[in-house]
Amino acid sequence: MESRTHADKCILAQHCSLAGSDKCNALCSSYIAVHGHNAAGGRVAAANIPSDYQKATLQNSPARKDQAAAYSVIDSYVNTFQRQFNEGSERIKSLYLVSASPGTGKTTTAVAVLNEWIVRHYIGSVQRGLSPKERPAFFLDVNAWQTDYNTFNRPRVPDHIAEPAAERYYRYQSAASSAPFAVLDDIGVRDASEAFRADLHAVINARVTEGLPTVYTSNVAIEDLALVFDARLADRVRDMCLVVPFKGGSKRGIRI
Ligand SMILES: Nc1ncnc2c1ncn2[C@@H]1O[C@H](COP(=O)(O)OP(=O)(O)O)[C@@H](O)[C@H]1O
Ligand SMILES: [Mg+2]
Repeated sequence: MESRTHADKCILAQHCSLAGSDKCNALCSSYIAVHGHNAAGGRVAAANIPSDYQKATLQNSPARKDQAAAYSVIDSYVNTFQRQFNEGSERIKSLYLVSASPGTGKTTTAVAVLNEWIVRHYIGSVQRGLSPKERPAFFLDVNAWQTDYNTFNRPRVPDHIAEPAAERYYRYQSAASSAPFAVLDDIGVRDASEAFRADLHAVINARVTEGLPTVYTSNVAIEDLALVFDARLADRVRDMCLVVPFKGGSKRGIRI
């Protein structure tokens, strides 16, 4: 049934005093700031979250129950997000969400954490009389990014194929390097050329150097990352990073 209000469509609802009221609708300025007109813009679209995952929050995540230990760490972790407003405070850590098996809820959870950042950045900025950033967070699907790389680096690829892939590749590289918060989804899963690895390393290096928090998801134990990439990259990922294991087998295809 179509609900009367926008509370179930808006990631701010959990924290919003207007949620569920007659002011909770598509014309709400905060709803538009976060989700855009027709739910196709705002900070959520700017974050580049894949559509299947866009509405994920820590509260509605299907993985919350099965991954109780992980969620208890993450629930406390997100409270450190308020440090973004305190110049000179302790750095906000990064997270490494890891399981050997796919389908344990890592990407869903990474998006939920990213959405939490958007919410806390938006509300915290408004409360302090600051303008919320247009792109407070960015989601990089490392596999898709590598596919773009391979597309424009194939021999004799026609320009109309290579150019959009290259344009997107460098745009994403820049956004992922500089966004105040980022998800790097599925690092370390495929064979990577030296040049692609260098670009991924540059993104991670830029973020760590600037003290920008990142959620990594991976099927590779953090100790083995040096085998997949190299020791330098593995060290950079480990910098100020909480490892959060996800347990069990794949829950893909389960409808709840
Ligand atoms: N514990 C769970 N219970 C039910 N469904 C789950 C659970 N964990 C994940 N899912 C669902 O399985 C699918 C894959 O989850 P995803 O977050 O992409 O996993 P991963 O990134 O670990 O491969 C999604 O549709 C998600 O909603
Ligand atoms: Mg995933």
